[in-house]
Amino acid sequence: MAVVRVPAENVVLRQPADITAFLARHAIDYEQWAPRHDVAADASSDDLLTAYAAQVGALKARGGYVTADVIDVKPDTPNLDAMLAKFNREHWHDEDEVRFIVEGRGLFHIHPASGPVFAIEVEAGDLIRVPRGTHHWFDLCADRRIRAIRLFQDVSGWTPHYTGSGVDQGFQPVCFGPTYVSSAPLPTA
Ligand SMILES: [Fe+2]
Repeated sequence: MAVVRVPAENVVLRQPADITAFLARHAIDYEQWAPRHDVAADASSDDLLTAYAAQVGALKARGGYVTADVIDVKPDTPNLDAMLAKFNREHWHDEDEVRFIVEGRGLFHIHPASGPVFAIEVEAGDLIRVPRGTHHWFDLCADRRIRAIRLFQDVSGWTPHYTGSGVDQGFQPVCFGPTYVSSAPLPTA
């Protein structure tokens, strides 16, 4: 289940209903897909897309998405830092950013047109849709692991446009996770 934080307001949301309502006010869709499909850790991308074909098909119809693929990132993924560096600075896309998290975790920061920056930590089972044009950035959590189904309206829209604002540098890419203990030292990754 996701965790939403609004650092400027010292707010942390952990209940799905609260998270859905908060994100909806910013036009971000959030839901949890059920039932989860039991897919082996070493299942291929095709196996994953087959297992979730019904949900992916429904989402395509709903959002006008035409393609789906799987992104699979591990700590030993070649050129991982270079890949992450494309997305950990504030940017936007010409199409929606749609992710269903199958394994691992990730951290979106959203910089809304009005209101303070907030963070959405997503994990397995979470579906998130960040609308086109939304200013945001993305980091992995300390375990540097995420496997997610991505949907696209047009793959050519998937280019990040950087704002160059530097706002992202004011926020640490720190995930809380379900086992976060406030007295523990914060990871620096
Ligand atoms: Fe993005």
